[in-house]
Amino acid sequence: NVSLKMKEDVETDKAFGWVLEIRYAYAVASALHGVHHSLQKDFMIQPPWDAKSDNTFIIHYTYGCDYSLKGELTYGKIGEWRFDKRSYLRSPPPRNLSLPPPGVPESVATLVKMVNEATANIVGWDDEI
Ligand SMILES: *[C@@H]1O[C@H](CO)[C@@H](O)[C@H](O)[C@H]1NC(C)=O
Ligand SMILES: *[C@@H]1O[C@H](CO)[C@@H](O)[C@H](O)[C@H]1NC(C)=O
Repeated sequence: NVSLKMKEDVETDKAFGWVLEIRYAYAVASALHGVHHSLQKDFMIQPPWDAKSDNTFIIHYTYGCDYSLKGELTYGKIGEWRFDKRSYLRSPPPRNLSLPPPGVPESVATLVKMVNEATANIVGWDDEI
């Protein structure tokens, strides 16, 4: 409801943009209802910008991961090796995506391994493609 109220208000909608629904509306609703949060340092990483996943809890996957075969980030340019959710707008990613070449940050490899682990364990994953 907070989200809808914010969306309906032209000025608020303009100020917050598309992330209003899930992020800012949550924060505002929490504040309105006295929900408190404990901040945890290094709670979340965002590959490819955060290189290591050790001692973190969540991988926030949003950025495309593009690399040369030498392991150099080619952000913004399609890499020889790539993992980008935007490649799968029409169909889900296949099982067993290729792992990145040597030199790519551990966080990126971990992300792809986790996606592979998930798709390998979802019964019928390939049937739905
Ligand atoms: C959200 O809005 C609807 C419609 O006005 C109302 O019925 C409902 O109780 C509201 N929910 C909360 C959690 O306030
Ligand atoms: C995943 O792909 C690699 C080659 O890219 C292959 O060696 C391996 O056997 C595959 N694993 C499964 C479970 O299909």
